[in-house]
Amino acid sequence: MTIDRSPEKAKKDHEELRGQIDHHDHQYYALNSPEIGDGQYDELMKQLRELEADFPELIDENSPTQRVAGKVSESFESVTHQEPLLSLSNVFSKDELTAWFTRILRIDPDLEFQSVVEPKIDGLAVSLIYENGVFARGATRGNGREGEDITANLRTIRALPLRLYPTSDIQIPDRFEVRGEVYIGKKQFATLNNERKNNNEPLYINPRNTAAGSLRNLDPRITAERGLQLFVYQLGWVQGDLGLNQHIDTLRWMGELGFPINNSIQVFNNLEDVASYCGELEQSRHSLEYEIDGVVIKINSLAAQRSLGVAGRDPRWATAWKFEAEQASTYLQKIEVAVGRTGVLTPYAQLEPVFVGGANISVATLHNADHIAVLDIREGDTVIVQRAGEVIPQVLGPILSLRPADTSPFAMPELCPDCSGNVVRNESEAAHYCTNPSCIAKLVRRIEHYTSKVALDIEGFGEERAALLVRSGYINDISDLYKLQEHKNEILALKDKLDTVRKNARKTNLNSGRREYWISKIESFDPLPGIREKWFTTVQNSLEASKSFPLHRLIVGLGIRHIGETNARLLATVFPSLDMLAEATEQDIAEIKGFGDVAAKSVSDWFDDFDNRKMLDELVKQGINTAEPVEEVTGRFAGQKVVVTGTFHQWKRAELEKILRQEGASVSAAVSGSTTILFAGTGGGKKHTEAVKFGTPIIDEDGLTKLLE
Ligand code: IVH
Repeated sequence: MTIDRSPEKAKKDHEELRGQIDHHDHQYYALNSPEIGDGQYDELMKQLRELEADFPELIDENSPTQRVAGKVSESFESVTHQEPLLSLSNVFSKDELTAWFTRILRIDPDLEFQSVVEPKIDGLAVSLIYENGVFARGATRGNGREGEDITANLRTIRALPLRLYPTSDIQIPDRFEVRGEVYIGKKQFATLNNERKNNNEPLYINPRNTAAGSLRNLDPRITAERGLQLFVYQLGWVQGDLGLNQHIDTLRWMGELGFPINNSIQVFNNLEDVASYCGELEQSRHSLEYEIDGVVIKINSLAAQRSLGVAGRDPRWATAWKFEAEQASTYLQKIEVAVGRTGVLTPYAQLEPVFVGGANISVATLHNADHIAVLDIREGDTVIVQRAGEVIPQVLGPILSLRPADTSPFAMPELCPDCSGNVVRNESEAAHYCTNPSCIAKLVRRIEHYTSKVALDIEGFGEERAALLVRSGYINDISDLYKLQEHKNEILALKDKLDTVRKNARKTNLNSGRREYWISKIESFDPLPGIREKWFTTVQNSLEASKSFPLHRLIVGLGIRHIGETNARLLATVFPSLDMLAEATEQDIAEIKGFGDVAAKSVSDWFDDFDNRKMLDELVKQGINTAEPVEEVTGRFAGQKVVVTGTFHQWKRAELEKILRQEGASVSAAVSGSTTILFAGTGGGKKHTEAVKFGTPIIDEDGLTKLLE
């Protein structure tokens, strides 16, 4: 809608509208507390655009409509900073922080400790110049003295005020500079990468690199799409005197003018408190919406800052408490593939060892072939690895500029790297599988799993012993574990013989030029390390104990896909004996509340397998317990298998189900032949029909109320 208005009225409306939009941008992007909805905001922008279409003379480069108006440039102009942008010295501990303060105390013995503590935002430093109340020019830090003019790109940052509004307390200097950090928030980073994934483009490595690339993109429209953000942390040079005496006052002043200031900034009066706040920020760094790589500590008094001055390129009056790095770059030597107990092939990276996140890393998972393709990770790449908190090490992606010429994309092997069995991939899944049921690698993993703590807890086993005993042919399936004692004498005799050979190594007339080498080889040769008389006793004791474990532990131990402890307990509760479980159909299992169809199919397939059945028979013969101890169920509905349908007036569905369970009933999701009661509220449909079909007793709300009385 266009309104006829005089040029004077148009000018007034224009001022008014852009003032409102600037205000809402500030509320939304700098303060994170919007006052109006998106629709209302869009309406204001629409009005402003229409007005500018009618009166183009009102447009200037700092109008909110002009944030993304810059043209594609050939290159950036270089600019010399009026005052250099400094860097910061580092400390890594409380002791080093104390040493920093002791040092500056020597220079200024009257120095008071009071400091401002700020999160160190992991982004890029920028210098922003304002002239006559409007954003005039912005530049990268560059080498500190000279940077690049990225004004058009900076304009696209919605948190950056294009115009400043004086208030009764604040007069705006004609010219001044503020400094801050441009970054990409974690959520925005995830959104960008999701888009890239959907478009089959290689993913961004981390928010910082992405922010750097975006800020220095020659097309401001692209920069705008990346959703850059800004925190301002330092007042640079100022024309005239503002009469401010403390750093914290300059932050407040900039905040009042509409610059985004981080809200975790605090003032402390002693070193003790600073150190503990640094620890606090380090603890909470993962829950912040942006990445920080440390904490900056700045002496609050501006007079003290001036008297302390600069040493080299670092101000003496500030230092950075750096966190342990969580990312590092290293060389990816090889992509290997591991075979899991269900046959899943998991690629992983063999890395040149690198210290990151407090540990030496030499391997990192690569998840699956799609993941590698999306990140375009190749052997020979220099990659960025991350180890954050307790999370297992990840390869974030390659540094493409360091990629050698002769690399090629990774391809999943067509045959299992262990048994050369066929490898397949189901359409719907990301994983590749080895299809060979007798793949040795799978068996090793199954034994490892069966003997692990969560399953049957057999002491003395682990990756190495499981592999040795499987690969030497003593264990061909899980039940063979219980027959290991039968081979005890043979294995120990073998070890005896080997011992003799080792002892006699020195007596033989080895006529090799490398006699010493071969003797030491023979002396140290032990194909079954750690397996001795005592080991057999330990293992036997654990095996005996495992025979009386409850059924759910055995189910866990079988290593059926999708069946971890929770599902195993569900199965064992509903089917409290191995026979009952083995006879259950896929539908029976799928009806268990909380059990998915995929897991149900997996269980049913497992029990359909002839070799699995044979192995179970063998386990039973060895005397393993096959029952789940049944908790004594009491209550009015003990032993009943009930289903609930329709709406009840007195209870919400979940509430009612809880009551029924407390009364001893087992509650299923669907009616089947074994359902003993259907509790039907109003409006039940299909389940009602089913119950009638099966002849299941149906009880309505009144009936149920009476039963519960
Ligand atoms: S003050 C004279 N404060 O850290 C002091 N820097 O290693 C100069 N940074 O180049 C910087 N957050 O990019 C300061 N709150 C903060 C900061 C911060 C992040 C970055 C900045 C600087 C680098 C110094």
